[in-house]
Amino acid sequence: MMIALTGTPGTGKTSVAHELQRRGVKVTHASDTVQSYRLGADPERDTDIIDDERWISEFKPVEGIIEGHLTHLLPADRIVILRCRPDVLKERLSKRGYSEEKIQENVESEILDVVLAEAFDIHGQDILYEIDTTCMDIISCADMVEEIIRGTVKPAVGIVDWLISYGDML
Ligand SMILES: Nc1ncnc2c1ncn2[C@@H]1O[C@H](COP(=O)(O)OP(=O)(O)O)[C@@H](O)[C@H]1O
Ligand SMILES: [Mg+2]
Repeated sequence: MMIALTGTPGTGKTSVAHELQRRGVKVTHASDTVQSYRLGADPERDTDIIDDERWISEFKPVEGIIEGHLTHLLPADRIVILRCRPDVLKERLSKRGYSEEKIQENVESEILDVVLAEAFDIHGQDILYEIDTTCMDIISCADMVEEIIRGTVKPAVGIVDWLISYGDML
């Protein structure tokens, strides 16, 4: 079983994955699988440009968790989408030293449910699980992902609506 742990940058994917790994869950970081799909650098956005389509089509499924902000595009068995309230996400990304533009881009993406919409388009809702991490620590988030791995919780989406209260951040 391959479980994708996805979400807007800053929602806590890597932190939660590290905690799961510490508990013995097999974890793969998508960032460790993209080296040969690197097309170049995008200095303006301070990121690498990756050939997503080729990465997706050539991806060899892994057991356990695959963690990264594009992993919902992979043929995973379950998809866990971490969410974070936009004002809190903004704070997390500022602390990370992201540029204003990059912070804004990610905050907008979170408000507009971009990852959820992409995941829904590809997989439908039956294998999607959302976790609102805003008021949860990393340990509790990892507990919830473990329950999803065990299959003791039902798929659930549409648990947040940032647009109503945070639309003015767009
Ligand atoms: N549940 C949480 N509560 C508070 N801070 C968190 C939480 N999850 C992540 N963070 C913090 O937010 C920042 C981004 O987390 P990270 O795991 O790197 O996110 P991602 O991998 O999704 O980009 C880090 O500084 C991390 O410590
Ligand atoms: Mg990360």
